Order: sequence, then C-alpha cells, then structure tokens
Amino acid sequence: MLSGIQPTGDFHLGNYLGALRGWVEDQHEHDSYFCVVDLHALTIPRDPAELRAKSMECANLLLAVGLDPDVCTLFLQSHVPEHAELSWLLECTASMGELRRMTQFKEKTARGGEEAARVGLFTYPVLQAADILLYDADRVPVGDDQRQHLELTRDLATRFNQRYGETFVVPAAAIPAAGRGARIMDLQQPTAKMSKSAESPQGVVLLLDPPEAIERKVKRAVTDADTGTGSVRYDPAAKPGVSNLLELLGLATGRAPAQVAADYSQYGPLKVDTAAALVELLRPIQQRYWELTADPGVAEKALEQGADKAHSVASVTLRRARHSVGLLPRP
Ligand code: AMP
Ligand code: TRP
Repeated sequence: MLSGIQPTGDFHLGNYLGALRGWVEDQHEHDSYFCVVDLHALTIPRDPAELRAKSMECANLLLAVGLDPDVCTLFLQSHVPEHAELSWLLECTASMGELRRMTQFKEKTARGGEEAARVGLFTYPVLQAADILLYDADRVPVGDDQRQHLELTRDLATRFNQRYGETFVVPAAAIPAAGRGARIMDLQQPTAKMSKSAESPQGVVLLLDPPEAIERKVKRAVTDADTGTGSVRYDPAAKPGVSNLLELLGLATGRAPAQVAADYSQYGPLKVDTAAALVELLRPIQQRYWELTADPGVAEKALEQGADKAHSVASVTLRRARHSVGLLPRP
C-alpha cells in the first residue's frame, strides 16, 4: 500500500478524515509506504526555506496522527531518486492528450493560463504514478479528489505492461464511502471541498487549530435558511452545510451521519456538539505534535530509516522497468 501528501499549506480535517486517519489503521494490515511528496510541491512557486520547514512539519504531523515508523515506511519523495527516474520512463508512456484532460491541471491553470504554468504541473500525475508503481502498491488510500489520478496510474501501468511485458502491479484506489470522509466540505462554502488553498480560511478547520478557533469556525458554519421541523437531516444535495456537520460529528463519534441527525432538531446544538467532538478528536494529535516538534531527532530518524527501506524496494522495481524498455545495465 502507498499514499502521499504534499508538504504545502496546513493540514486540515479533510486531509485527516479523508486520508490520514485511514492510513493509521491500514499500516497494521498492509506493508505500507507513506510519502511526503516534496517534489510535487515544486510544481507551483515555493520559498525554499518554507519548503524545508513544511517538509519537517508534515513528517511530524504524520507521526502525530499515529503513523508508527517501526510499523510503516515513512519517507520524503526526494530522498529516493528512483521516483524522478521512473517518472521519465512513464512520461514516455503517457500522452499529451490524457494529461491535458486532468481536472487538477485545468483547475490550477484556469486563472494564470497554460502558457505560464510549469511543465511539472502538467506532468504532476505522471510523477504520482511513479510514486505508486515503484512499490508494487495494489491499494492506494486517498480522498475522492484523487480518483482521476489513480485512473491514469492504472492506464499507464497497463499500457507499459502491454508494450514491454509484465512489469508493474496495477493499483486500485481505496476511497472512503460517501458520508464517511471521502469529501469533507468547506464550512463557509459547503458545495466546495475543504482545501489547503481555500479562499476563506474560516471554512477550513486545521489540525493545529486551537479549541477556540475550532469552536468559532463550526459556530459560523454556513447551514441554510430552512430551519423548520425535519431541517436537521442528512441530505448532501439539498442541505450541504448541515450534512457536512452531521458527517463530521459522525466521523468524530463513530456513527453514520443519518444516525447522528436523529438526535437533533435545531442547528445550534448540532454545532455545539460538533465543535466539542472535533476539539476532542484533535486534542491528542496536537499534544503529540508539540512534543515531536520539541524533539526533531524523532522525525529525522524516522525519515532516514524510511528512505533506506523505500530505496531498497524502489531500486528493484526501477531496475525491472529499465530492463523492460531496453536500457542496458551499467557494466
Ligand atoms: P493534499 O492536501 O491535496 O495533499 O491531499 C492529501 C490527501 O487528503 C489526499 O488523499 C486527498 O485526497 C485528501 N483530501 C484532501 N482534501 C480532502 C477533503 N476535503 N476531503 C477528503 N479528503 C481530502
Ligand atoms: N496528488 C496527491 C494529492 O494532492 C498527492 C500524491 C502524490 C499522492 N503522490 C501520491 C497520493 C501517490 C497517493 C499516491 O493529494
């Protein structure tokens, strides 16, 4: 199993409930690789000092949510050069047309235009495919927004295998069920996903938000004008804001959103309980995070151990791929 997360922006509840929380459970059941994708972060402008700081912050947060470096393999993408090299072989497998169809590329270039976009932004999903294929991953736990990138990875693996002979394992996405964290919505704009690049920070609950900020954001969450009887119900299409709160409270307390809805007839108490449950959900993570930042040696050791293990697996797969396409081994 493999998954990745970019060391950019601040981790939020969507990242945690859509991806990270599942990773923590999965690590005990699968041979798992978790990659901080620092090369992907370079696809849009970044300050070098900030990238360094964010990469460590990201590693510490992954440890704080519960990844155990003695159970899984946690590493930085740039520490394993095979990722960039396999990416090239896969760029020579992918077509311009299929990359141009990627919604993320279209969205990210919508404002500034394609002309100025970095080529890396265009080839981003190919590097992601390399991340996955290097580890023979058959399971890739991600949020719903990564569905298209996973389809592309499957297409590239299949095409490469057809062209050059069996080389890669064809992976499958593992996406949480609807209503169970696949797509957590922005609290201010409940028809858009909660995102690191949201327009209003008030709609995004960060993993490191202090309790007061969580309470304030949930209290001001956009619901809707229909407050009559039966107005607290799980119906994402008709009531996106309320449904998102029900989903959040359900995820924090281990219940289905419709089951949570049965306990409420008004928005106020639902918000109060949701905020309180989220504060409790995040409290232990925040506490571990602050302990870890006080002791940078822990993350450094985890990343060193992770890079060694990842390299030992990735180098074997890359050798196989190089051989398949006809590159000679070094004498
Ligand atoms: P990113 O923030 O784009 O690096 O995403 C890291 C992981 O979090 C990926 O698996 C995403 O699919 C997942 N993710 C990001 N935003 C959300 C969201 N609003 N709801 C559910 N999952 C999300
Ligand atoms: N594109 C993913 C995101 O933005 C991050 C990512 C990079 C990833 N490489 C990956 C996710 C490999 C899963 C597997 O969330």
